[in-house]
Amino acid sequence: MPEPVIERFERGRRDPRLVLLEGFHALKHALRFGAEVIEARAVDPDAVVVLAQELAPDLTDVLRARLQPVERGEFRALAGQPIATGCVALARRPMVDAKAVLLKADGPAILLEDPRHLGNVGAVVRVAAAAGAGCVVTTGAADPWHPAALRGSAGLHFALPVARIRTLPPTDRTLIALDPAGEPLQPDRVPSDAIFAFGSERYGLSEPLLDRAARRVAIPMRQGVSSLNLATAVAVMLYANALTD
Ligand SMILES: C[S@@+](CC[C@H](N)C(=O)[O-])C[C@H]1O[C@@H](n2cnc3c(N)ncnc32)[C@H](O)[C@@H]1O
Repeated sequence: MPEPVIERFERGRRDPRLVLLEGFHALKHALRFGAEVIEARAVDPDAVVVLAQELAPDLTDVLRARLQPVERGEFRALAGQPIATGCVALARRPMVDAKAVLLKADGPAILLEDPRHLGNVGAVVRVAAAAGAGCVVTTGAADPWHPAALRGSAGLHFALPVARIRTLPPTDRTLIALDPAGEPLQPDRVPSDAIFAFGSERYGLSEPLLDRAARRVAIPMRQGVSSLNLATAVAVMLYANALTD
């Protein structure tokens, strides 16, 4: 007898090789950027297809083919929480060699040192995908593929390599530290293929990482403001860099 859908999703949520895609936008981005979606369920698949006709016409056919119905009562158990768009899916988490992508990815590499807030990690992934960054690599205890981070990125983890590494390996790439106490940012003086390092929300960058940086760069702020939100700082840096290329 096939395993009941609730048990399959429960097992999927615990399996480190899989990720749960919560809602239409996460599923849309995952499909668009080549995720291997194993199973997709919706309370009302036709309503999701209508949403796709409006918001993602490129995916209408694939969603029509892939979405299977699930009882409203069961849906809550699959998702673990209410989801407005009424769809949820399991996808395979890509295997990423964090060291290789950090050292070789095309375009700017984003290094987050020990980020604590998973919503910030997701927002960083989202803007890094939008701005065409080469990768997002984190250090520290937080898993950048945690469901809360995937929620924050709206599924854009599939648009670029996202991985965790213990420490920054030796590298020939220019390392730029983003530090509110650094020299004022001059985007045309920053190589676009650098590794840009950002510190944790509370403590900023560690001394060892600051010491390794070729430069410490500050995004100008009005007097009295001590720092920008982590994801905002990444967004400013990436777009300042992209717009001067
Ligand atoms: C919320 S901030 C951390 C604030 C921390 N108290 C500090 O002094 O660095 C998180 C990270 O965002 C980056 N950041 C925030 N504002 C910045 C700014 N104005 N210039 C450069 N980097 C900034 C830095 O990498 C910082 O470590």
